[in-house]
Amino acid sequence: MSQTLRFPDAVPEFLGDVVSLRELTVEDVPAWFQRASDPESSALSGDPIPESPQMGVPWLERHRERFRQQTGIQWAIVPTGSVESVGSIGLTITSKAERIAELGIVIGRAHWGQGIGTSAARLVLPYAFNTLGLTEIRAEFLQSNVASRRLLEKVGFHFQRAMPGDLQSDAGSQDCYLYVLQSQNTGGSP
Ligand SMILES: CC(C)(COP(=O)(O)OP(=O)(O)OC[C@H]1O[C@@H](n2cnc3c(N)ncnc32)[C@H](O)[C@@H]1OP(=O)(O)O)[C@@H](O)C(=O)NCCC(=O)NCCS
Repeated sequence: MSQTLRFPDAVPEFLGDVVSLRELTVEDVPAWFQRASDPESSALSGDPIPESPQMGVPWLERHRERFRQQTGIQWAIVPTGSVESVGSIGLTITSKAERIAELGIVIGRAHWGQGIGTSAARLVLPYAFNTLGLTEIRAEFLQSNVASRRLLEKVGFHFQRAMPGDLQSDAGSQDCYLYVLQSQNTGGSP
């Protein structure tokens, strides 16, 4: 196994039974604005609510710039049989030297609880370890975020520690959990 990340020249596409993953485009901005302006989703993900759909242009450019800088890869999540995305999933490289990244997923409310987030993670994780060459992936989420915890457990993450909150919610700063998955432990559970 190489000791450096093998960062791709283009965002790779993945085709699964439930979802496919592809590069974000300007076509994804309306769906992004809808989920990003959902107060509950925004509080759970820790992302600020955008003022207008026009904020989608800098949102897209931010992800493209991270890709160019080799500090992150973001995918649009498209349910199989559809052409429109319903969410996004991404890896943010937090240590190039140690080959560690953070996983983030947001799905539009209308599509919660349909296995979409879990399916998207199951496409990204083998790529992240076997091709990109990560050694560890971390995920931080509010302790009240049951869906996030369950999703991460299903794909093999384990509890690392509780952390004082730096994600903001309506209730103010809430405590978080840090979950971790290492490259030799990618089995997950059903
Ligand atoms: C967290 C999130 C990505 C999960 O995606 P999803 O597609 O809804 O998840 P899945 O359908 O794959 O379900 C994963 C597990 O969570 C459970 N789950 C889903 N929504 C739930 C809810 N509201 N309450 C409790 N459990 C829930 C599912 O039942 C499933 O567990 P199970 O197989 O034991 O039944 C999605 O709910 C979301 O985008 N939330 C808002 C943003 C967010 O919290 N992002 C993560 C921040 S780190």
